[in-house]
Amino acid sequence: MTPETNQNEINPRRFSIPDSIKYVFREQRLLFVLVGIGIAALISNVVLIRPSSTWHSQPIANSFHIVEPAFVPRRIAFELHSDHANAGRRIPLGLKSKRLRVLVTGGSGFVGSHLVDRLMARGDSVIVVDNFFTGRKENVLHHLRNPRFELIRHDVVEPVMLEVDQIYHLACPASPVHYKYNPVKTIISFFKDHKTNVVGTLNMLGLAKRINARFLLTSTSEVYGDPLEHPQVETYWGNVNPIGVRSCYDEGKRVAETLTMDYHRGLNIEVRIARIFNTYGPRMCLDDGRVVSNFVAQALRKEPMTIYGDGKQTRSFQYVSDLVEGLMRLMEGDHVGPFNLGNPGEFTMLELAKVVQDTIDPSAKIEFRPNTEDDPHQRKPDISKANELLGWQPVVPLQEGLPMMVSDFRQRIFGEHKESRSKFSSV
Ligand SMILES: NC(=O)c1ccc[n+]([C@@H]2O[C@H](COP(=O)([O-])OP(=O)(O)OC[C@H]3O[C@@H](n4cnc5c(N)ncnc54)[C@H](O)[C@@H]3O)[C@@H](O)[C@H]2O)c1
Repeated sequence: MTPETNQNEINPRRFSIPDSIKYVFREQRLLFVLVGIGIAALISNVVLIRPSSTWHSQPIANSFHIVEPAFVPRRIAFELHSDHANAGRRIPLGLKSKRLRVLVTGGSGFVGSHLVDRLMARGDSVIVVDNFFTGRKENVLHHLRNPRFELIRHDVVEPVMLEVDQIYHLACPASPVHYKYNPVKTIISFFKDHKTNVVGTLNMLGLAKRINARFLLTSTSEVYGDPLEHPQVETYWGNVNPIGVRSCYDEGKRVAETLTMDYHRGLNIEVRIARIFNTYGPRMCLDDGRVVSNFVAQALRKEPMTIYGDGKQTRSFQYVSDLVEGLMRLMEGDHVGPFNLGNPGEFTMLELAKVVQDTIDPSAKIEFRPNTEDDPHQRKPDISKANELLGWQPVVPLQEGLPMMVSDFRQRIFGEHKESRSKFSSV
């Protein structure tokens, strides 16, 4: 016999079924093995991978297109939606991304940049859209190298297409001085304010609708005008002069609130509305005409602090970190609003000037000037609604917050990188 015929010869021992397999086939043992595998697969799919079988009806592999019921918390919903690169693959338990993609319009401004800091610290991916009208790149410079951060120069009066989960809409020239610069610019600024508030808000609501994002509008206590009710509750409709010098801002924000609610009711967009009362802190524009920044800058420069009117008009002053906490709670919570976000502690302008004197220079002088048109006499938020529904209340008193702002202003006015005076400072 040749070696070839030897190789082709059938070896009965090589093809015999091993005893272990014969054992499995006997007496329906195979059936039990299959049932066992089935139960194990079911447990791993339903119990371990899905957070709850009631949250969505489709498998996690298709999670990017899942339509979740309204009660799924936004952050959890995003966790289910997140990690698009892994779509189709199971994500090991405990490794799911907790990041949200958040757009902050006006994010290089005073409030926006502090909000961005908090969102970045939370681990979110943040896109800032800003035209730098009043904002500064320096306010967000420390995030520029972070791959989770993007800064886009863009005017919100033009549409923009981005993919995000939440939109904080802050973009808006917020201080009176920017629309009182001079008569010609006043008209332009009026127009710009209206455009930003109306067209800008429309564009951002349109974006929220297209990408199914939650939208938060930063409205203002100015919607109450010169209020006839004190303190102001959210149910108060306000006392606004529709043709006055401040009405571009007041009425612009009122229209923005209306648009936001119409998109919510008519198009089912998830929206939130915050009515922000006077806020102060580091990174405020120098010389922007807001009373706290004016007093602090003037006292540091040894100039008299300007009080318009008799100084008995009242305002409440909220430290910026308190506001940011309130905005984030509002965005993450279940309530549309509007919510007053402000510090109910009420100060006259004279009392505020005294606190600034105590903090910076006891010999700082005060100069009285005629009051500006439509200046509200009183402003104080009723924050019971935010307290009850968002569990929020301000925690930083003026005496604690002011020194933090003063050291920032001192650095910017006298520091190595001295900031030039604002182009609006001559008002
Ligand atoms: N700070 C307060 O006391 C206060 C009070 C009430 C309401 N608000 C509201 O909070 C928001 C933020 O206010 P802030 O104090 O940080 O003001 P800010 O001026 O510091 O910030 C506004 C930002 O929006 C940007 N911006 C303006 N118009 C824009 C446009 N058309 N397109 C893109 N970007 C634009 C500016 O460059 C700036 O960065 C505003 O909507 C304001 O109305 C603030």
